[in-house]
Amino acid sequence: MQKYSPIGVFDSGYGGLTVLNELKKRLPKYNYIYLGDNARTPYGTRSFDVVYEYTLEAVKKLFDLGCHLVIVACNTASAKALRNIQQLDLPHIDPSKRVLGVIRPSVEKVVEVTKNNRVGVLGTVGTVTSESYLMEFQKINKKRQIKAVQEACPMWVPIVENNEIGTPGANYFVEKNLENLLKKDPDLDTIILGCTHYPFLINQIKEYLPSHINVLPQGSIVAEKLEDYLVRHPEIEIKCSKGKTTNFYTTESVATFEKRAGFFLGKAVNAKHISL
Ligand code: DGL
Repeated sequence: MQKYSPIGVFDSGYGGLTVLNELKKRLPKYNYIYLGDNARTPYGTRSFDVVYEYTLEAVKKLFDLGCHLVIVACNTASAKALRNIQQLDLPHIDPSKRVLGVIRPSVEKVVEVTKNNRVGVLGTVGTVTSESYLMEFQKINKKRQIKAVQEACPMWVPIVENNEIGTPGANYFVEKNLENLLKKDPDLDTIILGCTHYPFLINQIKEYLPSHINVLPQGSIVAEKLEDYLVRHPEIEIKCSKGKTTNFYTTESVATFEKRAGFFLGKAVNAKHISL
């Protein structure tokens, strides 16, 4: 029998469920573990060092739970911790293991979709100030002249985490941030939701934007690119156990996680508590 080695999906809270959902739709045969660091969310306003420390702890825990492939399904963590983990930590921990993020695949997709090369990035304060998206666009800029503008939306994660979606207060912040982004470039034709929580606000976001603008949530992008990655890396794919199970872990209250995750996923969820 194949050794249990699920694909680990990590997020600071509930947002990564949007990625997990799409992974399971596109790649249903694998085992998955979802780890939400709900006790320490949000990461978006935390310093580089703290996000790195927390993310490394979570990745190590997922390795301990049997994963050899971990998706850091959090832009803030991908922006602030991924490179260090890949370059400094993984060689010591286990060079055969892999940790992938969400920014690179998202940037690749934006470049495929935009027609006029004018794009917008919505993210947390941490993601936006890290300029990780801008740096990735720069790398691609060698071939394409992408002009990217960004807007930090510090209220959007708390809106989702506190279930305020669709309330007048929440709509006020959605409209305000989108207005700000469009002021920075009224001609952009593609917007990436550079935070895993934002797809929960997609109806409100689309309401405030002209219909010709493409709004790209990340879950389906990450799933598409992971499928491609696994085809290109059969040595990693073969280690991913196939059993169609998903186990959920939270660093906070199990009861709260089960209730909220069940609401977001539209079905009942059983979770376990874990300390990092
Ligand atoms: N899920 C994180 C992201 O994608 C945001 C949530 C947080 O601030 O912790 O950036």
